Amino acid sequence: MNTAHHPVQLTVQNHIAVVTIDNPPVNALGVAVRRGLQQAITQAQADAEVHAVLIVGQGKAFIAGADIREFGLPPQAPALPDVCNAIEACTKPVVAAIHGPALGGGLEVAMSAHYRVATASAKLGLPEVQLGLLPGAGGTQRAPRLVGAQAALDMMLSGRHVGAQEALRMGLIDLVATSDDVQAEGLAYVRHVLSEGGAVRRTRDQTEALADRVKHQVAIDAARADVAKKRGLFSPARIVDCVQAALDQPFDEGQRTERTLFEQCLASPQRAGLIHSFFAEREVLKAPETKAAKPRPIKEVGVIGGGTMGAGITVAMLDAGLHVTMLERDAAALAQGIARVEKVYDGLIAKQRLTTEGKTAILERLTGATDYSALAQADLVVEAVFEDMAVKHAVFKQLDAVCKPGAVLATNTSYLDINEIANAIFRPQDVIGLHFFSPANIMKLLEIVVPARVSADVVATGFELARLLKKVPVRAGVCDGFIGNRILATYRTAADYMMEDGASPYDIDQMARAFGYPMGPYEVSDLAGGDIGWATRKRRAATRDPNAKPSRYVHIADKLCERGWFGQKTGRGYYLYPNGARNGTPDPEVLAIVTEERAKAGITPRSFTADELQRRYLAAMINEGAKVVEEGIALRPLDVDVTLVHGYGFPRWRGGPMKYADMVGLPQILADIRAFAKEDPLFWQPAALLVKLVEEGRDFESLNKA
Ligand code: 3HC
Ligand code: NAI
Repeated sequence: MNTAHHPVQLTVQNHIAVVTIDNPPVNALGVAVRRGLQQAITQAQADAEVHAVLIVGQGKAFIAGADIREFGLPPQAPALPDVCNAIEACTKPVVAAIHGPALGGGLEVAMSAHYRVATASAKLGLPEVQLGLLPGAGGTQRAPRLVGAQAALDMMLSGRHVGAQEALRMGLIDLVATSDDVQAEGLAYVRHVLSEGGAVRRTRDQTEALADRVKHQVAIDAARADVAKKRGLFSPARIVDCVQAALDQPFDEGQRTERTLFEQCLASPQRAGLIHSFFAEREVLKAPETKAAKPRPIKEVGVIGGGTMGAGITVAMLDAGLHVTMLERDAAALAQGIARVEKVYDGLIAKQRLTTEGKTAILERLTGATDYSALAQADLVVEAVFEDMAVKHAVFKQLDAVCKPGAVLATNTSYLDINEIANAIFRPQDVIGLHFFSPANIMKLLEIVVPARVSADVVATGFELARLLKKVPVRAGVCDGFIGNRILATYRTAADYMMEDGASPYDIDQMARAFGYPMGPYEVSDLAGGDIGWATRKRRAATRDPNAKPSRYVHIADKLCERGWFGQKTGRGYYLYPNGARNGTPDPEVLAIVTEERAKAGITPRSFTADELQRRYLAAMINEGAKVVEEGIALRPLDVDVTLVHGYGFPRWRGGPMKYADMVGLPQILADIRAFAKEDPLFWQPAALLVKLVEEGRDFESLNKA
């Protein structure tokens, strides 16, 4: 008996061919599904007993699109555009009944059907742009014919999901079903179509939505101008070209245009980077502890400290619907902490994204306290007090005394040894690092830092919190700076060395922006405030091991701080910000300080090309990333990638530094590091893992799969 699972099934019920796609988890259009769909249509076409066709998805989705894992592999027939054309060419009416996601190729299948009905759960979209692609199965030609150029461009350039009601208003679907029983609703609609005469209505032949050419040309021109302003991404301009083709060319020619441009996108490194990001962002969720243990319940949370981080974390928790108790040192500090929280919501009110009543309702879930007994019922407490071990110890001692058994006790420390924090109390198994990024209510990254003695369900709770807060969690081990700040420290040092050796901070920032960062490292320093790093450096200088190997120290940042030039908030830092300007202008006095410091250090300045600046910056990042993986601080290279993309502005379309290294080729990266090491062997020590991978002819991706 053949028990093989067929991802596409065909049954005939009362003259209606029901084509069911059953390819868990999301009915992606892998080769077997494409083949099955094509066969089913051929069969339905040939069967005289069949009067109409219904396409429906099994499980939680209609169809989530092309199978993303197949991109970059040799294509296998039938191609999706051919399958879609076959559906559309059917001479019997074809209805798509949509529930859940109908995305990318999934929506393209639906648009190739002659009629569309959707349940309330439907999410329709053309998110290819987020993968560096464009809808490549006729979507760029069919969507404008159904909804007009403007709405089609909006869907394809944003990639957003459209709900059933909106889809109906747009003209993307014909009916919103009244129940969730998608198959029954689909069958009912087929019967309705047949009762009305069973006309075959092909999207390719629709002309009404594009009738007003002038209006659509205006929309296309506006989209093109908008896309040109946003640097970096390759596929958006091609999407606009495709919509232009939909307006100007007959369907078949437009589809050929689409194919050519789709293939350009497919071949672009951005496609590879974005698809790497897509899978990496899902892979980070699968830390071993999330499989081994169940999270503890989280309802009531405590936040200690109402400073920059404590306030941001409080907002993130409130936004997730949690009840929060904020604890501060005294009434005055508490009032300031609460005011910081209110300021965030007042900002939303000013932008008309929240009402006053909305704010009141949110703040009802916030309680302020100065006495630890208020945290007795908390399920989870996050500490965000000063970065000082003695202060942290004092806080955890109090938590140990008042918190209920099983409460998760988390620290937001940036650098301190969480093992030391945990070992000082009676319940080290409950202590974990939850490292948020500033501003904590906005930044997506959450490093889940796992000390030696923590129990697995506490780690799983950290991941569950990330899910509730809609954060991107990455599991990290304990070391100085964990994954992100440790790597940051290394490439920032490389930048400072380049500055002292002859590059201007403005050239370095320009290089980073050209690479795809929203800002360069010195602009970031000016935005965050130079005083934060200065305080850390001073604290570390006091405790630095006198026997440690001598390493180079660049004084330029300290010289700026000594003058009170902390960045934007003081009107000057590396840049000048006259009259509260947000974009800085280069400062000749800063360049004079740089020159002076070079002279003091006995350095004859040399010149760097933009390419050299970039190679050094990236090599430092990649080399430290390899060390972080080698030491088990990050589980895999992809964890480093997700950290740098979601916490440090690394361009997502490049996939992350480790993916970038794979694309450049690890032998090239290692050769660069070895060349730089000739000048400075202490700083440029190649990671043993990098050397090993090069020797074995492997890449970082080989470790992601392991
Ligand atoms: N291909 C292959 N695998 C896919 C997939 C796809 N299109 N979409 C989702 N998956 C996988 C995920 O990797 C994940 O696998 P895992 O369990 O092994 O980690 C699993 O399906 C479940 O996905 P999520 O965890 O994301 O589940 P959610 O329920 O949170 O979200 C979803 C479901 C909204 C469908 C979301 O997965 C999604 O947005 N998927 C991508 C949709 C997309 O971009 N489609 C366009 C593809 S490109 C295309 O169609 C080109 C065409 O124009 C030619
Ligand atoms: P901050 O100085 O803005 O806020 C600290 C707050 O803690 C102050 O409001 C202070 O009154 C309060 N506080 C101090 N001792 C306390 C005690 N014993 N009990 C109750 N409250 C107390 O500092 P910030 O920037 O918010 O940093 C807090 C923690 O977060 C630090 O560990 C820091 O390393 C970490 N962190 C900071 C990031 C940043 O970008 N600022 C990013 C990620 C982590």
